[in-house]
Amino acid sequence: MSRIEEALAKAAGMMSGGRAVETMPHPMRPGAARVPMGEKRIGGVRLPEETLVVINDPLSPMAEEYRKLKEAVVKMTKRDRFDNLIVVTSATVAEGKSMTAVNLAACLALEYDHTVLLVDADLRRPTVHKYLQLGARKGLSDCLREGIDVGDLLVKTDIGKLTVLPAGTPVANPVELFSSETMRKLFQEMKTRYSDRYIIIDTPPVLPFAETRSIARMADGVLLVVKEGQPSLGQIEETLESLDAPVLGIVFNGTQQQHRTSYYYNYSE
Ligand SMILES: Nc1ncnc2c1ncn2[C@@H]1O[C@H](COP(=O)(O)OP(=O)(O)OP(=O)(O)O)[C@@H](O)[C@H]1O
Ligand SMILES: [Mg+2]
Repeated sequence: MSRIEEALAKAAGMMSGGRAVETMPHPMRPGAARVPMGEKRIGGVRLPEETLVVINDPLSPMAEEYRKLKEAVVKMTKRDRFDNLIVVTSATVAEGKSMTAVNLAACLALEYDHTVLLVDADLRRPTVHKYLQLGARKGLSDCLREGIDVGDLLVKTDIGKLTVLPAGTPVANPVELFSSETMRKLFQEMKTRYSDRYIIIDTPPVLPFAETRSIARMADGVLLVVKEGQPSLGQIEETLESLDAPVLGIVFNGTQQQHRTSYYYNYSE
């Protein structure tokens, strides 16, 4: 059995109340998150206000799971040092990356303790500005192409201490932009300049496109969103193996069984 198969088998044990949960030596374990399917199914049309559930439907089971995810992430990242740069991704398209990134960022920003910078690094299908209803603006692509200062393009929101760097002007060649030395310097600069903030980065899926692999190299940790029933075990395995960054955990999204024990499975050692 491969490491990932063991991992998923353990996760299955956790779901069914098995004993695996007792043996997992990790601080993320108590902060379980397993985001249920919302009223409108994934893939259906959701209005932006339905997507930002932690603000617009804070008592829903989905919002509760995002708060658990937030707790788990804080536990993992705020220890002796602050691992502030977190990439949210998935193996395939439309698994719920942007929804997870937006709700996680909002949950963090609503707490007195955290300032948050949410970066839309999905230049192929940017949605953060839509989900937060910010309108089309300049953003990351313009910083990368024109050398515009990040600080000049940050958008303040009215959600706690949340600011956003939108994806920006559409570009034809995102892979080239993200494999550039400019990209590496920009992310390094963001990390240093905003070292007291969480930087949550929404990205394209890993398997069809190359850029998330480059972005992940800059990350302190990756959250892998897995939509229930969508990617195969092989695809999840390939994704985890291709990411050169610590994987903080897997967020199971769009789950159907709402009454089982929630869990948040940690993949890293
Ligand atoms: N748990 C959920 N319940 C219901 N709908 C969901 C859930 N998670 C995501 N969705 C919906 O599914 C659609 C895709 O979600 P999202 O945009 O977050 O996916 P994505 O992985 O970022 O997609 P892409 O690969 O295109 O960037 C959206 O309409 C979103 O509102
Ligand atoms: Mg997206």
